[in-house]
Amino acid sequence: MGVLDGKTSLVTGASRGIGKAIALALAKEGSDVALTYAHQPEPAEQVAADIEKLGRKARFYNCNVADPGANDKLVDLLAADFGQIDIVVNNAGITRDRSFLKMDREMWHDVLNVNLTGPAMVIHRLVGQMLERGDGRIVNITSIVGQMGNFGQANYAAAKGGLIALTKTLAREFARKGVTVNAVAPGFIETDMTADVPEAALDKVRELTPMSRLGKPEEVAAAVVFLASPAASFITGEVLSVNGGMYM
Ligand SMILES: NC(=O)c1ccc[n+]([C@@H]2O[C@H](COP(=O)([O-])OP(=O)(O)OC[C@H]3O[C@@H](n4cnc5c(N)ncnc54)[C@H](OP(=O)(O)O)[C@@H]3O)[C@@H](O)[C@H]2O)c1
Repeated sequence: MGVLDGKTSLVTGASRGIGKAIALALAKEGSDVALTYAHQPEPAEQVAADIEKLGRKARFYNCNVADPGANDKLVDLLAADFGQIDIVVNNAGITRDRSFLKMDREMWHDVLNVNLTGPAMVIHRLVGQMLERGDGRIVNITSIVGQMGNFGQANYAAAKGGLIALTKTLAREFARKGVTVNAVAPGFIETDMTADVPEAALDKVRELTPMSRLGKPEEVAAAVVFLASPAASFITGEVLSVNGGMYM
């Protein structure tokens, strides 16, 4: 028996890294899972196969979260394949780092579109059926960078800070209709996104982190499962940090 038995979840960007860990953790707690990817189908197919091995239903979809047409198509496919969606996890995210004066408009818009406008569009399309039922959970994956800023990440910090503000606003708007909206703010986590960060910079992160290490995707996933579970029924508008104490 899992705490999410009978539920259906959508996790965006779940072919790798944190999204993959979230999709698997939700399935281990009994949820069926719809997952999306943007570029490579094979890793998404593998995650779906792993979920089915756990005895849960899984489907994977190509959907660039920044593309309105792709989001419309996704919603139609979800309705056909799953009926209702109970839990939405907005995880898909990208970085395009450069110091602010060298950052061009494309880098700015790409990051804002995927990390902020994308989640807003996904919620806009899926929350209606949750509000009608009077039940639903939305979890947005923001970042420590949205809480404290970071050199070279003005676009990413603005998007992730905006996602926190969106989370709190929607939490207020949907609270009386049974839909909670929360965010998880990871610190530095071992995924492809941090794989290119120079070792000297990662040493600095370890030095600034009371727990002296990077986090693991599964540690972020555990926070998402909690916020999606009945145990979090009176929590909304919260930003749950998973950062080893780096920002508190
Ligand atoms: N890693 C960290 O240290 C860290 C810290 C704080 C917050 N976060 C946040 O956590 C989330 C996951 O990060 P991660 O480290 O797991 O990243 P990752 O390893 O780079 O994986 C990103 C995932 O998002 C998908 N994706 C990328 N662009 C997309 C788009 N336009 N539409 C739909 N899916 C897209 C990728 O699919 P494809 O492979 O098909 O492109 C992949 O499945 C992001 O929101 C990130 O900002 C990460």
